[in-house]
Amino acid sequence: MKGVILAGGLATRLRPLTLVTNKHLLPIYHQPMIYYPLMAMKKAGIREVLLTTSGDHAGHFANLLKAGEAFGLRLYYAIQQNPKGGIADAIALAEEFAHHEPVLVLLGDNIFHHDLAPSVRKFEQKGRGAMVFGVHKDTGSRQYGVIEVDGSGTVRSIEEKPEHPKSDIAQTGIYIYDERVFSFIKKLSPSGRGELEVTDLNNFYLSTGELTCEIIDWWVDAGTSFDELLEANNQVARMVQDGKL
Ligand code: DAU
Repeated sequence: MKGVILAGGLATRLRPLTLVTNKHLLPIYHQPMIYYPLMAMKKAGIREVLLTTSGDHAGHFANLLKAGEAFGLRLYYAIQQNPKGGIADAIALAEEFAHHEPVLVLLGDNIFHHDLAPSVRKFEQKGRGAMVFGVHKDTGSRQYGVIEVDGSGTVRSIEEKPEHPKSDIAQTGIYIYDERVFSFIKKLSPSGRGELEVTDLNNFYLSTGELTCEIIDWWVDAGTSFDELLEANNQVARMVQDGKL
């Protein structure tokens, strides 16, 4: 399986912190935000990772991360022409890189501690479909996609930032897709906010009955607001102090 980390977007919700730098280079306690998804990839057993970002910031990532040696990964870079093209638009950049392998996709602003290796193995055994990762959270804030699952972990519905959430399971920025993902993305149209939405992509898999959901424990979308950026910093500080990280 190959890895893809998304580090584009405009991060307008975190201005002025992001006026001259990329959100994923902001600190989470003692390390830049982008270190966390890289460490999660390594822990998951992924060896080759593509990092997608905008042309404005690609050089900053290359200066910091080089070819990924410090993380025990082989790191590649791709430029997303429209930094707000959407999550699925950024994933599409990985088609050649993936070379018919499945992909583990991580949004670069997601901070979590969960070990993805067992889920990666589970997916590889099945070899087909897609997997989303959810977390129990207050979904009434209209900040997240919301996942409805049945008892066996099969997804019944996913809605992007719904007004009336059908469950308390928020969709995290962790996804695994089989090689059909790139052909599904080609069928997507931009949403009302002008983006190729990951939720629309996941709904393609849902319609084939091959979308499952794994639940993880704590997770923070550090790029959503100043409060969540602070929460991620505090949680990581506590984990470092407790020797858990
Ligand atoms: O974080 C979880 C949420 O992420 C999910 O619950 C939602 O279903 C999903 O749509 C997404 O929502 P956000 O509105 O929070 O996505 P955001 O625009 O903040 O982008 C998330 C990450 O993806 C961030 O690290 C930047 C990157 N990104 C985003 C866009 C729109 C890109 O690299 N390129 C892009 O074009």
